[in-house]
Amino acid sequence: MNAKFVLKLVLGFGLILFNTSTTANSPTAALFGTVSSQHDGVMEGVLVTVRREEDSFSITVVSDAEGRYCFPIERLQPGTYAVRIRAAGYELPDRHSISVNAQSATRLDLHLRKAADVADHLSNGEWLMSMPGTLEEKQQFLGCISCHTLQRIVNSRYSAEDFAHVVQRMRGWSQGSTPLRPQIRPDSVGPDGNIFVPPPSEASSRIGEYASKVNLSVVPRWEYDLKTFPRPTGLGTQVIITEYDLRRPETLPHDAIVDEDGMVWYGDFGSQYLGKLNPSTGAIIEYAIPKTKPGAPGGSLDLNFDPDGNIFLGMMYQGVIMKFDRATEEFTSWKSPLFDDGDDARTAMVTPTRVDVDGKVWVGGVDEFQVDLASGVWTAIDYTKGVTPDMVEAASAIGSYGVAVDSKNNFYGLQLRGDFVTKVDAKTLVSTPFHTPTPNSGPRRGHMDSEDRLWFGEFRGNRIAMFDTRTEQFREWQVPVPWTNPYDVVLDRAGYAWSGGMTNDFVARLNTETDEITMYLLPGTTNIRRVDVDNSTSPPSFWVGNNLEGTLIRVEPLE
Ligand code: HEC
Repeated sequence: MNAKFVLKLVLGFGLILFNTSTTANSPTAALFGTVSSQHDGVMEGVLVTVRREEDSFSITVVSDAEGRYCFPIERLQPGTYAVRIRAAGYELPDRHSISVNAQSATRLDLHLRKAADVADHLSNGEWLMSMPGTLEEKQQFLGCISCHTLQRIVNSRYSAEDFAHVVQRMRGWSQGSTPLRPQIRPDSVGPDGNIFVPPPSEASSRIGEYASKVNLSVVPRWEYDLKTFPRPTGLGTQVIITEYDLRRPETLPHDAIVDEDGMVWYGDFGSQYLGKLNPSTGAIIEYAIPKTKPGAPGGSLDLNFDPDGNIFLGMMYQGVIMKFDRATEEFTSWKSPLFDDGDDARTAMVTPTRVDVDGKVWVGGVDEFQVDLASGVWTAIDYTKGVTPDMVEAASAIGSYGVAVDSKNNFYGLQLRGDFVTKVDAKTLVSTPFHTPTPNSGPRRGHMDSEDRLWFGEFRGNRIAMFDTRTEQFREWQVPVPWTNPYDVVLDRAGYAWSGGMTNDFVARLNTETDEITMYLLPGTTNIRRVDVDNSTSPPSFWVGNNLEGTLIRVEPLE
């Protein structure tokens, strides 16, 4: 580790209590060692995570090609740390805890053994890779991983018929649900207040049928091989990952964004909170968001800054978009014209980034709108407006999941169900749809960069993609790990495009000059959605919220 890095960490981390000058005797490592197993010898790409009981965060490093891992001294305060590892198919034989002091580096060599059962180690992507079936059959499960993992499906014993009913019931839970805290969609509330489940649709029956072939309905143990992805290698091991616990463990930090001071703002997909984490102290402030529709599910999806640094949120079934004024700490809301229409009231996305151009934001949800904030008028997008006659039929089926704006506040919508990126002109509302080069790629969410290039995730295409709105040309990069299913992409100041796996626990960093992609594995079970970068660090670091564990995660490349 070089001196510059030491200095940078000291500046960036407000918890340092001891001298870190690089004199001959002072250690640069707090804790280090090698990772090995009898079977493999030294092991590369094993994640080593430590945590002090009194802290609200865990820190992870990864073993290199020689099996070495090292926690820099600036990162670990003296104390007793619990140690855990992640390496699919391996485990630590005993519970490890280790005492770290400020005077000398502590050595802890980790000898792993093969896990008795790899089933508990598999990510959703590894289950999908392992199970028999066609791509189309497996892709049916991509809609099942947003509220819980596939473990529930593969471990279940339902027959095809019973499973069809379970799948039908799933359609009645709102997006911001978990098995611990389910919320019923407005249109699925039965007369008794419980979830109302109609008879299975054809699609539910098809999923139920396939699910009954890969679960434990007829066999006591899966008969297919359980396969795992290769562990991280090379640059993918040169990283420090910090997981910050949120105050309420049930928080679903679906979207998290970094402000110019390095503070991380997050929404909660399942409750009415806006939060702010100070990464140098771990301190969290939360603001309760008023309910606009009591009785409807709570929680927000998109959150974005306007040019003044105020925050706009898409409030889902609360049927509004919300603005948080950072000076007065007050919330203001704008009601969707579909506010009284049950499930259709849902708003998800909102784009205040260039509201300075014309006073308008675009809203995505069940329908998409251009909203004039001063007058409160919502104008629905008609995707057939201005398209050539041969495109009218295709355009009428367009809906957009992610939405983004260019420097003129024109709209770009991402069609998750198909493969269109659709421009809508801010002044004329004329639409121009563009097919991605990869058919049926499932464009999901993205970020516009300062040169009006839209970086976005191709969810089914397993690609990072870019649409240059000025030349109207696409570029695509296949992610090297299958079943990553990128949800979102953001470009950092240094020219790296970052994305993450909604279906596995990998973060991808694309070097846009060399086209090289580095894959970083995260220590926990995640379900990566919105991604962001902190451009104030060098090199820029990556942030993402983890709905499955109620944490905010920072990934810092070490280079
Ligand atoms: C919108 C959130 C959501 C989605 C999406 C979702 N689930 Fe669930 N799932 C839940 C909740 C909440 C529970 C617990 C309550 C229940 O069983 O209905 C659950 C439970 C389950 C269970 C256990 C049921 C039992 O009786 O033990 C299975 C199996 C399951 N889900 C399968 C699926 C499949 C298959 C899909 C995709 C077609 C899916 N889920 C998609 C929210 C969701």
